[in-house]
Amino acid sequence: MTLKIIDGKKIAGIIKKEASKELENLYNQYKIKPNITTIKIGNDSSSDLYLRLRDNACKEIGITSNHLEFPDDVTEKEIINSINKLNSDNKVHGILIQFPIPNHISANKLFKSIQPNKDVEGFNPHNLGKTLIGDESIIPCTPLAVLKILEYEKEKIEGKDIVIINHSNIVGKPLAILLLNRNATTSICHVFTKNLKNYTSKADILITATGIPNMLTKDFVKKGSFIIDVGISKTKNGITGDVDFKSVKDKINSITPVPGGVGPITVACAIKNMLKTYRYCLESNNF
Ligand SMILES: NC(=O)c1ccc[n+]([C@@H]2O[C@H](COP(=O)([O-])OP(=O)(O)OC[C@H]3O[C@@H](n4cnc5c(N)ncnc54)[C@H](OP(=O)(O)O)[C@@H]3O)[C@@H](O)[C@H]2O)c1
Repeated sequence: MTLKIIDGKKIAGIIKKEASKELENLYNQYKIKPNITTIKIGNDSSSDLYLRLRDNACKEIGITSNHLEFPDDVTEKEIINSINKLNSDNKVHGILIQFPIPNHISANKLFKSIQPNKDVEGFNPHNLGKTLIGDESIIPCTPLAVLKILEYEKEKIEGKDIVIINHSNIVGKPLAILLLNRNATTSICHVFTKNLKNYTSKADILITATGIPNMLTKDFVKKGSFIIDVGISKTKNGITGDVDFKSVKDKINSITPVPGGVGPITVACAIKNMLKTYRYCLESNNF
C-alpha cells in the first residue's frame, strides 16, 4: 500500500488563491478593502506565532489586520464593550478573539457578543446553531480545514465510519455535526470513552486532536484508513502530532503530517472566513 502524506501547504495555497480572487471581485464591486480586528488579552507567547502567521497570510492577499491588545487583568465588561464598538463600526468587517484568554473571562460570553455576520471563527451560538440545523454559513476554522482536506483529497464522506477524538467546542463538536450533515456515521471520543481502540480501529477516517504526542500507534488504526492529525505538541524532538507516524505508516492509506498538515490549512480557512464576513458586511441584507 502506498502511503499518501498530505501536503497541507499546497492545499492552503489553493484556498488562499481562491480567497484572493474573491477579494478582487468584491473590491471591484464595492471599492472597500477588508479590515479585520483581533482581540488579544494578556501576554501568552504561544499565541504570537499563530497571530504572526495569520497576519502574514492577511498581508499576502490584501486584508488589513488590526490588533486590540488588553492586559491580563482587563474585565469581561471592558472586552464586551470593545466588541460592541467593533460590531457597530462599519469599517470593521470581522472580529476574532485570540486564545488563550485569562480564566476570569468567559469565552462563551465573548463569542455571544460578536455580531454573527462579523464572527470570523464561527463560534457565535447563532452560527453554531445554523450549522446544527444544516444551514452552514460560517464554519469554525479547524473543522473547515478538515472538510477542505477531505474535499481536496477526494475522500468520500457519505456512509463512512468516522471517529473524532476531541469533544471541544472549537474542534470536535462542530466537526461531528458537519460530518453528520454530510451523511457520515460519526463517533466522538474523549477521556471518558471506554476502550478508545474499539472505536478508532474501526474508523475509515480518524480525526484526532488530543494534544498528546504520539499517542496513537498502529493498534489504534484501521488498515487502509485516512488519518487527520490535528494535534500539535511541543516536545524535545520538535513539534509533533497525536499519531506515532513510524508505527502506523505501513498500515494506513493517507495521513496529514505535523507540522505542515492541518495547521497551514487552518490559517487559510481563517482567511476564507474573513472573506465571508467581509462579504456579509458588504451585502448585509444577505446574511
Ligand atoms: N492544527 C490546528 O490548526 C489546531 C487547531 C486547534 C487545536 N489544535 C490542537 O489540537 C489539540 C486539541 O486542541 P483543543 O483546543 O481542542 O484542546 P482540548 O479542549 O484540550 O481538547 C482535547 C480533547 O482531547 C480529549 N482527550 C485528551 N486526552 C485523551 C485521551 N487520552 N483519550 C481520549 N480523548 C482524550 C479531551 O477529552 P476531554 O474533553 O474529555 O478531556 C478533549 O476533548 C491541541 O494539540 C491543539 O494544539 C490544532
